Amino acid sequence: MTSTHAFWLAGRQAAGEDSFDVHNPWDGRLVGTVSVPTDAQVEEAVAAAHAVTAEFSATPAHVRAAALDHVSKRLVERTEEIAQLISAENGKPIKWARGEVGRAVSVFRFAAEEARRFNGGEAQRLDTDAGGVGRLALTRRFVKGPVLGIAPFNFPLNLCAHKVAPAIAVGAPIILKPAPATPLSALLLGELLAETDLPAGSWSVLPVANDRMPALVKDERLPVISFTGSDKVGHAIQESVPHKHCTLELGGNAAAVVLADWSSEADLDWAATRIATFSNYQAGQSCISVQRVIADASVYDRLVEKVVAKVQAQVTGDPADDATDVGPLVSEDAAKRVESWVDEAVSAGAKLLTGGKREGASYEPTVLAELPDGVTLACEEAFGPVLTLHRAENTDEAFATVNSSKYGLQTGVFTHDIQVAFRAHRELEVGGVIIGDAPSYRADQMPYGGVKQSGVGREGVRYAMDDYTYERVLVLTGLDI
Ligand code: SIN
Repeated sequence: MTSTHAFWLAGRQAAGEDSFDVHNPWDGRLVGTVSVPTDAQVEEAVAAAHAVTAEFSATPAHVRAAALDHVSKRLVERTEEIAQLISAENGKPIKWARGEVGRAVSVFRFAAEEARRFNGGEAQRLDTDAGGVGRLALTRRFVKGPVLGIAPFNFPLNLCAHKVAPAIAVGAPIILKPAPATPLSALLLGELLAETDLPAGSWSVLPVANDRMPALVKDERLPVISFTGSDKVGHAIQESVPHKHCTLELGGNAAAVVLADWSSEADLDWAATRIATFSNYQAGQSCISVQRVIADASVYDRLVEKVVAKVQAQVTGDPADDATDVGPLVSEDAAKRVESWVDEAVSAGAKLLTGGKREGASYEPTVLAELPDGVTLACEEAFGPVLTLHRAENTDEAFATVNSSKYGLQTGVFTHDIQVAFRAHRELEVGGVIIGDAPSYRADQMPYGGVKQSGVGREGVRYAMDDYTYERVLVLTGLDI
């Protein structure tokens, strides 16, 4: 797969003057060469999105739903090919890549279903006060304008789907900017969109370099920005356009909390399996991968033994191999960063229970205990296959430890006690609490997003549709109602 890939400009294929190469992080082989849009081509895409807004938002729901259904169906038909592409450009093990395609199938299907039922409108009587007699308010949602979707490398297809599908569902044009490391899955998604009857201009996929993004971010014709990526970049975007609607899906250092009542052998086996799996899936490069395990002192030692054994049992290696659980990180630089954070923690006194070695872009699944406060790993998102273990004297201390983070995306709580589940829901400062499983569980129709430095706004198809639109009220006067 070494041909030059065109990009998608207002629904049609186009080529620019420059190009860049995409390499497989596992073996460095060339996966594809991607054409880069010129400034004039970017301007053409934005102008087309702006110009088509009224037409696209007026498109009947059945037309938008049919396009979304089509993409969902074609993703099913091309699953294996797309999974291989994701795996090749990202280094994601093939079994996880297949799972990602399956999730994108659902995202487009959910969006088709939501498009059919969205915006039925709501009527509100106003004669509850004398001044409102004979008046009726009708509220419907209207698109804010074209969306600029900026996608990350860790889910090269599905996190593009989460930006594109809700936009189509509401009739908002979208300019999608894939991550420079992984543009090929987004360009392939463009092939499927091009098979639909969506109006020209309603979508573009532009593999623009990050340093050219500030101009696009500031473009007034793109009033909505949906960004997934680092907190540093997300906050810089928001600060540069405070008047725009920004949805920011940022980092996290998700915790799995194992409480005293989760204590049978079977309980601890399940918790350890889920923790080991989801601290290492996609080499830990998910905002909700397990970074911290906070275990009640009464189960801590037994849990640690099982977690370490299950982490050691993770199969590392070639992402193309069906048996591989953990592949490389997205680049050697990313693996070197993880290595330096682990080395810093160990030098400061953390106990290395397993792992801790790097080879090229691959980093061994790693478990650390007794992490000193203040080291980088204790404060920042690892975004690598690294787990830190923390002992808590009781539930109060466990929940306080979760909340001591600057991030707040999702937390998993292993408990059988429904009262404790509700307490966790009340007290944990996160966007989602998962009971009986790791924090990494995400169903794509659920609201997904964080608090604190994990971001603002929500994805999850219907929630993004709300984000891309606003309520406009129509007051009717002089009615005999
Ligand atoms: C993310 O890394 O924020 C996305 C996680 C997911 O979609 O499972």
